[in-house]
Amino acid sequence: MTGRLPHILWGITGSVAAIRSDRLGHELAAQGELKAIVTRRAQHFLPEGMPEVPIYSDDDEWSSWKKLGDPVLHIELRRWADVLVIAPLSADSLAKMAHGICDTLLLSVARAWDYSRPVIVAPAMNTMMWEHPLTTEHLDRLRSWGVGVVDPVSKELACADIGMGAQAPADAIVAMVRRATSREDAETNRNDRES
Ligand SMILES: Cc1cc2nc3c(=O)[nH]c(=O)nc-3n(C[C@H](O)[C@H](O)[C@H](O)COP(=O)(O)O)c2cc1C
Repeated sequence: MTGRLPHILWGITGSVAAIRSDRLGHELAAQGELKAIVTRRAQHFLPEGMPEVPIYSDDDEWSSWKKLGDPVLHIELRRWADVLVIAPLSADSLAKMAHGICDTLLLSVARAWDYSRPVIVAPAMNTMMWEHPLTTEHLDRLRSWGVGVVDPVSKELACADIGMGAQAPADAIVAMVRRATSREDAETNRNDRES
């Protein structure tokens, strides 16, 4: 990554927090080169004013492959990316990721990921979903692979419940991305010096 902008791959899943993807998208785009992947449910929430970056969906995975030798999109995106950020991460995609299920473009990238590279997730869900014992179990599993978790915050949620589960502010997510990419760069520099 030395000498170029970090390649940030941003996954957006079907939490209602995806309606604020415009602000987070612009902030992430300011940190490097950005590409996004949306799940089918996330497409429902995407706001106007998203940054002008490539946005891939499950359909692109299948329409771009016709025959042996054609590029496989989830592998190409994984090769391209220095960091994977999933914000918001729904309870559904979290559960699937923790169990290695890969039935969407985004989850296929996560399953094919090289976990020596940074992954950052920002879960966002209803308070009862957040407090469900499986949430901690799944996040602990991701943490054991080195995944950075930006914890949600407590506030009035879209469903009118008040409590934990709202996506962390964009600044907190971007700060973790910035730390992860500068660490990556330092690592690459050290390896270059040592080789
Ligand atoms: C209006 C609406 C809001 C939703 N908000 C959330 C949410 O904040 N967090 C969450 O985990 N699931 C939420 N869901 C449920 C997810 O969209 C659903 O579990 C879906 O399967 C997630 O798929 P994905 O992870 O592939 O995007 C919501 C569903 C609806 C209809």
